[in-house]
Amino acid sequence: MLAGALAGATAWAAPAGARHSNLRHERPLTELERTDAERLLVVVTKEVPLDPVDYAPSDLVPWRDTAYELRAEVNDQLEELFSAAEAEGLGLRVISGYRSYETQAGTYDYWVRNYGQASADATSARPGHSEHQTGLAVDLDDLTGGCYLDACFGELPEGRWVARHAHRFGFVLSYPQGLRDRTGYTYEPWHLRYVGPHAARAMRELGVPLLQDYRSPRVAAAGLGSLLGRRD
Ligand code: DAL
Ligand code: ZN
Repeated sequence: MLAGALAGATAWAAPAGARHSNLRHERPLTELERTDAERLLVVVTKEVPLDPVDYAPSDLVPWRDTAYELRAEVNDQLEELFSAAEAEGLGLRVISGYRSYETQAGTYDYWVRNYGQASADATSARPGHSEHQTGLAVDLDDLTGGCYLDACFGELPEGRWVARHAHRFGFVLSYPQGLRDRTGYTYEPWHLRYVGPHAARAMRELGVPLLQDYRSPRVAAAGLGSLLGRRD
């Protein structure tokens, strides 16, 4: 039934044996899941800019004692993630959080000037098109910096742990390996996007790695892909 409902929707396919019977989880919804689901699940891609294009969240807080900022719930959930990683002897650090439209313009320009347009477009979003502007995205690194903004972060114990456990805290990897043809960006194992624990777990159980697919009309029509309208 699920496969039939979703057939042809996208390039992804649910893995064989995926369990779909437990998608209405007992866990109570978080504050953002209850009150700001439209923003929480907003799709921001190369094709789809933020609306308005200079959007800025109103509930930014500093990450620990750094200059990085995140939306308040993202900050709290990331604290939980860091604690869980630390309990397993894995040290993480934040290397980017919220970036305004203007900051993203500067970041993108830096990449164009130093690496050329094509390389910049494979790694850096144009202003108004970055998940960092939502205050829901965060870049992570281990404590050594040996794989700073490098694909090798995904091979470190810290990167592997993040890929395996981030969904428990409401985060997904926006730019997975092998999906550049869908995302337009090369693999970024360091870039986490907060979508809330409900959506992150559902995406994992459905085998839907990309938020734009989770938010697609076909997934929503199958009753699987949205928190919108839920208030429990
Ligand atoms: N590196 C990601 C794509 C960004 O610039 O938002
Ligand atoms: Zn990022």
